[in-house]
Amino acid sequence: MFSHLIPAAKDPILSQSLACLQDARTNKLDLGVGVYRNEQGVTPVLQSVKRAEERLLNTQESKGYVGLAGCERFNSAMIELLLGENGSRSRAVAVQTPGASGALRLLADVIVMANPSAKIWMSDLSYANHAPIMKTAGVEVAYYPYFDPQTKMVNEAAMLATLSPLGKNDVVLLHGCCHNPTGADLSYRAWQSITEMANAQGFLPFIDMAYQGFSDGMEEDAAGFRYLAERVPAYLVASSCSKNFGLYRERTGLAVIASNTLQQSECIKSRIMECARSSYTMPPDHGAAIVRTILEDQALKEFWLTEVTQMRQRIQGVRSSLVDAMKIQTGTHQFDFIAQHKGMFSVIGASADQVTRLREQFGVYLVDGGRINLAGLKESDVPFLAESLSAVVS
Ligand code: LMR
Repeated sequence: MFSHLIPAAKDPILSQSLACLQDARTNKLDLGVGVYRNEQGVTPVLQSVKRAEERLLNTQESKGYVGLAGCERFNSAMIELLLGENGSRSRAVAVQTPGASGALRLLADVIVMANPSAKIWMSDLSYANHAPIMKTAGVEVAYYPYFDPQTKMVNEAAMLATLSPLGKNDVVLLHGCCHNPTGADLSYRAWQSITEMANAQGFLPFIDMAYQGFSDGMEEDAAGFRYLAERVPAYLVASSCSKNFGLYRERTGLAVIASNTLQQSECIKSRIMECARSSYTMPPDHGAAIVRTILEDQALKEFWLTEVTQMRQRIQGVRSSLVDAMKIQTGTHQFDFIAQHKGMFSVIGASADQVTRLREQFGVYLVDGGRINLAGLKESDVPFLAESLSAVVS
């Protein structure tokens, strides 16, 4: 049965952490996988999460099944977090999923079910798992230009030009904020243009919102997406609680479907639940129960928001420290773009050889393509990173 199988290729992101763990050097940096770490190098359980868990421990009376859509109270609270008072809420429905990867996969499954010849367009570069998820589900993948390696910002003109001939068979995957891997986000003006194009041409916007709260603020980070959501007839969202709630291993995510009418959204939701039933049946409950407990309690929600702000500000602080350190190391402003990027990551423009040298010579682990996880960097490690980078990349 299995004799012809060859081992899978290493995961480009997760393999870096493993390799770093196995590296015997003490002076090493794991800046691969996208996890937040504090100044002690720990990925903490948020205090708001601990409080919610205490409540759950004291009040939860059953471990009975919840349902194919997961917890509907979680789904409603998350829709509110994503959409605010957005007009499209009246036709938006959601399914709780095992992480945002689970949402991406289920939404891909339903796209194939609805239109087997649909093509999904993603940014060049994009999250390393986007294309594998889409291709495994059977969706054809194409790319639009996005990251300009010269400016390290988004080439919006080239992106919009590529999207201009797209139509009803096309899906356009957009990062809601904190673009993974580049850190370069769309301007509000670009969100407006994409909205106009989706309406005129009929393509379906599909938003990956994995880092809400890590760019400028919980509301601010949803602004471009909400502008679009208010105005297009249909959209999909894959949303994650891994980063902003620090619930990585709890696999807590959400698939949102908004179609022309609530009835049609519900129809799509039923097909998504059917897909879930034929693979894992229903999502794990614990993470969603924590998130629901936090979001339904105004005081606990406020407290959680302050914790997200602290994480965001620490990342911003690390960004500006690295920019300063790189100025000193290189005597140039070559790396100033790092402070303009948003969220956990920046693509710093390192070649494959340079990424290998950083790893082998300095024990600095980045994702191939030169993605650096600034959220995993301690202030005290900034000088070492700056020395390593300037020796290899500048
Ligand atoms: C990342 O991009 O590093 C994270 O989203 C973790 C993952 O699942 O790849």
